[in-house]
Amino acid sequence: MLQEYDYRHEDSTLLSNIDLYKIFNNYRVNKYIIGILLALKKTHLSEYKVLEAGCGNGDKTRMFTELRVKPKNCYGIDINEKAISLCQELSPSSMNFQVGSVLDMPYENKQFDIVLCSGLFSAVGGEPNIKKTSEEISRVMADDGVMFVIDINENFHNIYGTNKAVLDKNFTHFNSQNGELESLLKKEFKNVHHMHIFSADSYRVGEQAADVSKLSFIDSELDKGFEGSAYSMWVFNKR
Ligand SMILES: C[S@@+](CC[C@H](N)C(=O)[O-])C[C@H]1O[C@@H](n2cnc3c(N)ncnc32)[C@H](O)[C@@H]1O
Repeated sequence: MLQEYDYRHEDSTLLSNIDLYKIFNNYRVNKYIIGILLALKKTHLSEYKVLEAGCGNGDKTRMFTELRVKPKNCYGIDINEKAISLCQELSPSSMNFQVGSVLDMPYENKQFDIVLCSGLFSAVGGEPNIKKTSEEISRVMADDGVMFVIDINENFHNIYGTNKAVLDKNFTHFNSQNGELESLLKKEFKNVHHMHIFSADSYRVGEQAADVSKLSFIDSELDKGFEGSAYSMWVFNKR
């Protein structure tokens, strides 16, 4: 069954704390991605073709245009029609969004230099689908491409421990300490980096979202290597 996600958070004129955290979250994600691309010497961003697999409302797909990826070279696919309608509404028309499944993608072989999977592997429906998705991504990714995976890690239960609405969704999460995700993807991909990344939820106080006035403090803590977040970013190259 299709999960229901709260895709729409960009249509309000008044930015809530949650909106501000989401914007900050994406700013941090951008920062991590730039750092990794520099370290991997993959900086021809204006030439690259990028795919976000399971793109939701496309906010992270659009983020790549801030890194000089041309809108016409940005692709997003999601199984949820509502999500893709939002992508089309919120994005430049030259960006490419399509309803479809990551298990069988409508793209030619080896065409993407960067693939982003944010929240996809936890949502795709368990181990067989994770493996099938991995094969499909490997098929469409260039041999020297890079895949960024952002997903929930071993801290998930500590942070969401009391939040029944979240726990009921029964998301798969990946222990970043014992190579759980790496081993599921190992046929096609080798892991080249892992880091804990920002999630607003890590700074919740009980049921309350954390205070947005602490964003600059959080930013500096993360730069010092804070490891308490429920989200990780794994970076993979093709085998
Ligand atoms: C947690 S949301 C993440 C959305 C977006 N990537 C983000 O970071 O905000 C997971 C997304 O994966 C999509 N999804 C799940 N299974 C899929 C499949 N088989 N093919 C394509 N998209 C899928 C869902 O529809 C949903 O939009």
